[in-house]
Amino acid sequence: MADLKEKLRIGLIGCGGISGAHLPHLTKSEDVEIVGFCDVVVDRAEKKAAKYVEELTAAGRTASPKTYDDAAKMLADIELDAAYILIPTYAHGTPEREVIKKGLPFLVEKPLGINPEDLRKLAVEVETSGVISSAGFMNRYRQSVNRVRDILSEDPAILIDGAWIGGPPLVKEGDYFSQNPIGQWWPIKEKSGGQMVEQVIHTVDLIRYLAGDPVEVFAYGATGFNSKLPNIIPNYNLEDAAVFALKFANGTVANIMSCCAAQTGGGVFLNVWASKHTAKFTEWAHHVTLHTAGEKETEDIKGDLEDIFPTEDRVFINAVKSGDRSGIRCTHKDGANSTLLALACNESIALGKPVTVQYV
Ligand SMILES: NC(=O)c1ccc[n+]([C@@H]2O[C@H](COP(=O)([O-])OP(=O)(O)OC[C@H]3O[C@@H](n4cnc5c(N)ncnc54)[C@H](O)[C@@H]3O)[C@@H](O)[C@H]2O)c1
Repeated sequence: MADLKEKLRIGLIGCGGISGAHLPHLTKSEDVEIVGFCDVVVDRAEKKAAKYVEELTAAGRTASPKTYDDAAKMLADIELDAAYILIPTYAHGTPEREVIKKGLPFLVEKPLGINPEDLRKLAVEVETSGVISSAGFMNRYRQSVNRVRDILSEDPAILIDGAWIGGPPLVKEGDYFSQNPIGQWWPIKEKSGGQMVEQVIHTVDLIRYLAGDPVEVFAYGATGFNSKLPNIIPNYNLEDAAVFALKFANGTVANIMSCCAAQTGGGVFLNVWASKHTAKFTEWAHHVTLHTAGEKETEDIKGDLEDIFPTEDRVFINAVKSGDRSGIRCTHKDGANSTLLALACNESIALGKPVTVQYV
């Protein structure tokens, strides 16, 4: 554990798109110093490190981070207090094992792996190591989500209906996937797990956070629509859309829809019906409108727009500094279980029959 007065020395493993969500807060935090930037494409590590130094210098601070093309090399070369693991779905396993071998706390972006068997093993290894871990399901820090969670602890969810509807990854100017490294692996099922595992997993995780663990899933996938588009990203092989039915041990049922084929968009929503309450979450920020039986007025809570990654980062940093991990809303094990649920949904599509979810 680092001393409260000291700066926390952090090493980043993976310097692609999502590092841009964590770096602004880490850069501004005077009790943090990023001492190592690592990416298998070392040019990305060097660019992020150079920008970090530039921003610190402009703020009258100094730093001289080192760059690496391999996490093991970084961990052997410099002393760290914590690591951020910000890598694609297919790359999980080795970096986490290197980090826990050093006994380091880590924050890891979702999803936590692509191979269910290895992920279950890894989650046990992380638990056994005893290190502080935080999985990047940042929606768990939203006020809107926690208000509804409190209500559902007294008035349990009966029916849940969620969706994540977006457009196809296209080779065209302005398309996020064709302009960023994520486009090289996200559209390929064996690398990303598909939209359910990569994106809709935020909804999957919220369903677990709000209502507990579904025990069984059954899914259908739609294919053959995006493949007809002339400018679909090469090697795209995902379900264009899917529906997932989830059954909970207490009788609750849920439906999740995913779609990456709607060029007009559709957005993110999650509706939860309990006996005396209905919660309707909308958009990525998860604004909520809460209806209570017998009351005319609804309660509306705006989702935190800009603050959610800094909140998640700050909770993790404080946990590492103090040793008190109680503020962390999603550990590696918990995040692994959300990932295992999403992977079970994929398995059901592949098998064409219901699948019992095997959690850690
Ligand atoms: N929480 C969120 O809302 C959110 C948003 C975007 C992305 N993400 C997640 O973050 C993860 C990364 O996404 P991204 O957009 O940054 O992808 P990306 O492809 O832009 O960046 C990933 C980086 O990791 C590097 N990398 C791969 N294997 C590595 C390894 N073994 N060691 C070091 N570096 C390695 C790649 O070269 C790449 O630069 C994804 O799983 C994604 O789902 C989360």
